[in-house]
Amino acid sequence: MQSGRPEPSVSPNPVEPKSAPSRAAGEAAPAAKTWSGPDPTVAPVTIRSLQRAMRERIPFAALTCYDATTARWLERAGVPVLLVGDTAAEVILGHPNTLHAPLDFLIALTAAVKRGAPRALVMADMPFMSYQADEAEGVRNAGRFMTEGAADCVKLEVDASFAPTVSRMSRAGIPVVAHIGSRPQHAKQVGGYVAAGKTADDAMRILADADAMLAAGATMLLVEATPVEVTEEIVRRSAVPVIGCGAGPVCHGQVVVTHDLLGLTERQPPFALPLVQLGAQLSAMADAWKDRVRTGVLGEHPYALSDEQRKDFFRRIGRG
Ligand code: KIV
Repeated sequence: MQSGRPEPSVSPNPVEPKSAPSRAAGEAAPAAKTWSGPDPTVAPVTIRSLQRAMRERIPFAALTCYDATTARWLERAGVPVLLVGDTAAEVILGHPNTLHAPLDFLIALTAAVKRGAPRALVMADMPFMSYQADEAEGVRNAGRFMTEGAADCVKLEVDASFAPTVSRMSRAGIPVVAHIGSRPQHAKQVGGYVAAGKTADDAMRILADADAMLAAGATMLLVEATPVEVTEEIVRRSAVPVIGCGAGPVCHGQVVVTHDLLGLTERQPPFALPLVQLGAQLSAMADAWKDRVRTGVLGEHPYALSDEQRKDFFRRIGRG
């Protein structure tokens, strides 16, 4: 949804040089630089900048992130949206699925990511059973992500039946990203991580979920693992940015699990194949460190006693 207020103009470099050269009379103004999309190295990323990217058809990147150091590097690289996903249960905690992400743990990780990337838009994933059992509890937990976690928005895996919860969060001022399509928190119920919308019936159900979420005030949609035709129809109906995860290139933004792109996970989905081989590099680093330890060549030793203190120390231990 777009507010009626005009979008502030964001230039690639909003900081005016202190002593901008003055133009001679009649000299043409320099051509306005074109906005190349939300970029945390230029200005803080907000829901409004993502809406503007959507309107201007500039696809934006999103990545999962679970710690401050990685967040700092991803923000420096210009990634506008960081998702503190419940995939932390798998990637960080080593569980077989996303059901095991403790609420307090995800809130702490969200705050860490925001500290590392204060200008990126940080999306907090609400974990299994933090919003499903009770509406009021869900709103309070979403509020904790916004306050303790300093999140910019929360994400919930939903279908149309969650409309009252989303609407209540939205009324409370909490921007909600409605995650529809394949919902990993339902993996036990459907027998694993499966695609969604592969029959006309299921595709129509997902469209109904999308409509219900839009009507309930969702700030964005996140669509996972749907056929391109289904995603296209969701994007066509949506007045808010749609982020895809394995949902095809038509979405306004794209998110994947960073560890997949880093080459750190055992199996990657075909839409998130490794871009670097950090796993192999970690192994090479570990081998090199083992060699250093074995040979005692550890680099320069920076801590020294002064001559006077050394003499005193040796005298006291009986070696003086
Ligand atoms: O938790 C997560 O990482 C996710 C996505 C990858 C969409 O929800």
